[in-house]
Amino acid sequence: MEINRRLWLKNVGLGIAGIGMTNMNSFASPLPLVSENVFDNLEPQNNFITLRSNENPYGPSPLARKAFADNLTLSNRYNWEIATQLISNLAVKNNVKDENILLGAGSTEILDLVAKFAASQKGNYVIADPSYEYWTATLDSLGLKKIKVPLNADKKIDLQAMLKAVDKDTKLVYICNPNNPTGTICERNELVNFVNNVPPTAIVLIDEAYLEFTKQQSLSGLISTHPNIVVAKTFSKIYGLAGARIGYAIADTTLINNLANLQSNTNNSVSVLSKLAAIASLKDNKFVSDCSSQNEIARKYTIDELQKLNCECIPSNTNFIYFSLTNYKKDYFQKLKDNNIEGTRIYVEQGKWTRITVGTMQEMKQFIKALQ
Ligand SMILES: Cc1ncc(COP(=O)(O)O)c(C=O)c1O
Repeated sequence: MEINRRLWLKNVGLGIAGIGMTNMNSFASPLPLVSENVFDNLEPQNNFITLRSNENPYGPSPLARKAFADNLTLSNRYNWEIATQLISNLAVKNNVKDENILLGAGSTEILDLVAKFAASQKGNYVIADPSYEYWTATLDSLGLKKIKVPLNADKKIDLQAMLKAVDKDTKLVYICNPNNPTGTICERNELVNFVNNVPPTAIVLIDEAYLEFTKQQSLSGLISTHPNIVVAKTFSKIYGLAGARIGYAIADTTLINNLANLQSNTNNSVSVLSKLAAIASLKDNKFVSDCSSQNEIARKYTIDELQKLNCECIPSNTNFIYFSLTNYKKDYFQKLKDNNIEGTRIYVEQGKWTRITVGTMQEMKQFIKALQ
């Protein structure tokens, strides 16, 4: 219990310091299991609003809920065929071959496998600062030296500077596109130019956890010409399956095999139910586009209101907003705590930059009301 609590507090950060463990009850499914319209019934539950981890407040999709409900009784079997089916569907969706896909328990497992593979030889890795870092402890403990490259003045990943930081000892370069926590995106042609210039001795890990919130095309098309690229994808964000833990890698066959060799139960660390929910989610295009539009509306509202409160906001391509508390004169974290709202930490002291997840419109109205 002590260890769990310590880990929990570490991950949660400053945003909810002080909110009691009893509130964890509020993570119980707030939405009906099978519903025609998941955009109804959106009042926050238990007076507790979680805007910390960029989850989808509307998910899982109706088709995914039905898949969970209908297939519960399959849980007594390993059923490897379902992995094969999901892999085929993902290959079609991404216009690659089945052997270019590896399934993981969330994209975190994929990032972890890439970390283990990259760190099998001594050297360094290059990462933007700030970027998504929770998975990099594996790289650090396996002995790769971390090279952090500051974002540019627009809080975008500075691809030129990243390239300059890459040297003969670089084993891995991580690009989170769009970037977490800033929500900024690199132009696709600049990314293509970037990967063309990274030496083949370094793996380029492109994390597209939030790409579905944008109109930009994935870099997965480059794997046939770039055997050193891994694209990490997840069902946790727009598909609303964060708790189901399902993600995947897209890469050249040799690289996929190298990663698969590090995964004991290759393609089967994910439960049968989660895989079936993922298969169903891929068919629910309407849910994806509805989530995207709802997110845009609630995001615009939140940015407009934060600006009225003198908080500078970085234009966002995602379901979260990066904003500055420098000119906000009240105690932001106290306001969150008083109103049972879970945000996250300060990422950069200078400018007091923090991040808030875009929840439902009702949740964002309560968030803004809490700050006023
Ligand atoms: C950029 C990015 N990558 C990966 C993940 C991990 O997602 P999951 O393991 O749920 O797929 C997250 C989660 O917040 C993220 O923000």
